[in-house]
Amino acid sequence: MDELITHTNCKTVANGTTSKVITCKAAVVYGPGEALVIEKIMVDPPKEMEVRIKILFTSVCHSDLGVWLGTNEAERAYPRILGHEASGIVESTGEGVTDIEAGDYVIPIFHGECGECIFCKSAITNMCAKFGINPMKRVMESDGKCRFWSKDKNPIFHFFNTSTFSEYTVVDSACVVKIDPKLFPLNKMALLSCCISTGVGAVWNTANVKPGSTVAVFGLGSVGFAVVEGARARAAANIIGIDINPDKLAKDVLREAFLSTHQGWGLTVLVGVHSTPRLLPLHPMELFYGRKLVGSTFGDFKGKSQLPHFAKDCISAGVKLDEFITHELPLEKINEAFQLLIDGKSLRCLIHF
Ligand SMILES: NC(=O)c1ccc[n+]([C@@H]2O[C@H](COP(=O)([O-])OP(=O)(O)OC[C@H]3O[C@@H](n4cnc5c(N)ncnc54)[C@H](O)[C@@H]3O)[C@@H](O)[C@H]2O)c1
Ligand SMILES: [Zn+2]
Ligand SMILES: [Zn+2]
Repeated sequence: MDELITHTNCKTVANGTTSKVITCKAAVVYGPGEALVIEKIMVDPPKEMEVRIKILFTSVCHSDLGVWLGTNEAERAYPRILGHEASGIVESTGEGVTDIEAGDYVIPIFHGECGECIFCKSAITNMCAKFGINPMKRVMESDGKCRFWSKDKNPIFHFFNTSTFSEYTVVDSACVVKIDPKLFPLNKMALLSCCISTGVGAVWNTANVKPGSTVAVFGLGSVGFAVVEGARARAAANIIGIDINPDKLAKDVLREAFLSTHQGWGLTVLVGVHSTPRLLPLHPMELFYGRKLVGSTFGDFKGKSQLPHFAKDCISAGVKLDEFITHELPLEKINEAFQLLIDGKSLRCLIHF
């Protein structure tokens, strides 16, 4: 628990801020690929079924990079606060929130769970009609408005249901999960909100890898290494890691991966996000030899109902989180964190406030 205490500053959670606008610092993006600007913003109190979180740690994931670069024009929206991998402490809750209260240690989840839509009610998918991942969504679900404002009162857009590159953020309660702080210090807990759940879940849930299997991982960033950890914990007999210098980007890595799987039972799980309009590089007849291809979002976890248990499973299966955080920087240096990821020099760079 020493580590937990070292890595949290929960005593600094603002008192007396409930129902009030909070002024704090955030990293705001104003244009595709433009350096993020650290500035003072105003954060509204949470409305009905919303939660305001003091973010303690956040990190940069490749999915932030994709939207920051604005490769897909439909995803562009400025000014905007990016960030989705994080941990924090609840500052206050809006009316109707019963499962989370001020002071709880939480992670935001970009792929939420409303619990009421046809997908949430089905056991076979982790999709959610209201709070599933949608890079185009930029406002809160309940009223179509922003909770972030610039000092001159212009709205600042939300991102991925989360917007964690801010000292305080407002998210819907469907996108917040309470995690037992005895399991992980808050710096490592942040990894559960994206790379660990995505990578380990792709192995445990989507592929349901059995002991003795052979697993090949294309792309050894944090998500790829989480796949490796998940496969190791499932006693895969062979784990093959494949990576390239992004300067020599293989055109059809998906095709390579698919055709490298075994005829009859090979399974390719697609986790990487493709923002370009390019279609699948496969001939339909190539699907006739027993190989399967499936996409996996957020490791196929229903975040709200399954993540607290998954956190415990990570401990009992010995999933190691130690090696993932390779760098740490203050929010003021977030542009350096982006560059480290672009250059392939970091796994996760943890940002603190
Ligand atoms: N499906 C989901 O829910 C989900 C969640 C999180 C991240 N993602 C996506 O997963 C991917 C990985 O994220 P990350 O944060 O680990 O990224 P990262 O930048 O840390 O790692 C990506 C790695 O892939 C390698 N690479 C690139 N092209 C390659 C190729 N053609 N063949 C082999 N290796 C290649 C890079 O060199 C790098 O090491 C991104 O596309 C991200 O958007 C998806
Ligand atoms: Zn991510
Ligand atoms: Zn739902």
